[in-house]
Amino acid sequence: MNWFITMLASSIGKKLLMALTGLGFCLFLLIHLIGNLTLYAGKELFLSYVEHLHALGPLIRVAEFGLLTFAVIHISTGLILFWQNLQARPVRYQVNRNAGGRSIGSATMPYTGVLIVLFVVVHLLNFHFIDHSLQTVFQAVDATFAMLPYVVFYTVAVIIVAIHVSHGFWSLFQTLGANHPKYMPGIKKLGIVLSILVAAGFGLIPAYVSFIM
Ligand code: HEM
Repeated sequence: MNWFITMLASSIGKKLLMALTGLGFCLFLLIHLIGNLTLYAGKELFLSYVEHLHALGPLIRVAEFGLLTFAVIHISTGLILFWQNLQARPVRYQVNRNAGGRSIGSATMPYTGVLIVLFVVVHLLNFHFIDHSLQTVFQAVDATFAMLPYVVFYTVAVIIVAIHVSHGFWSLFQTLGANHPKYMPGIKKLGIVLSILVAAGFGLIPAYVSFIM
């Protein structure tokens, strides 16, 4: 626990914690997206994917514990950084301008972050904390997206996730020291590709399940 407090106390330590946990979330998002893309191929393939996922048993529990730990670190560190930036507002603007200008993504990071937390809570209640003896995961997805407000909610939420990722991805590599003129343009492009994949891949699922499946 001491290492965590030492990291939290230093400014570079906080940025490193944000970067490493952010990288973990990007990997999770990519894996989660690949799994969910099976929905486009139909109910059977999706249920087979879910079955294989659940068959991993204890490994899944370990991954869930890891995700939860990462979430606690990312959210608490993010809130501390947000608070410290508010205290030093004039300095913050100067730093951002020097770092290459502000985008929608960079300017809204704390707000999109809070909205994502709210989305994930609702999302877990919809699909994760369900009684598997009463319904399959597909039935939960199907029933949720049969309700138009949920279709709109998920579509908007996924766009917000994509905006968060569009800045977070290159920012985390900058923190990890990849701020080199040779690599940075490629990393920025990769971040844009990832956010478009997230927006399109996840974002079209609610409408697809609701209107086409
Ligand atoms: C339309 C888009 C999405 C769909 C259809 C979807 C579907 C699902 C389903 C079916 C599960 C339950 C898996 C299971 O327990 O068997 C799940 C879990 C989860 N989803 Fe999503 N998801 C979507 C987008 C997202 C996004 C954008 C995020 C993150 C920002 C996210 C984060 C999670 C998390 C953290 C879990 C719990 C994982 C676990 O504990 O095993 N999902 N999702």
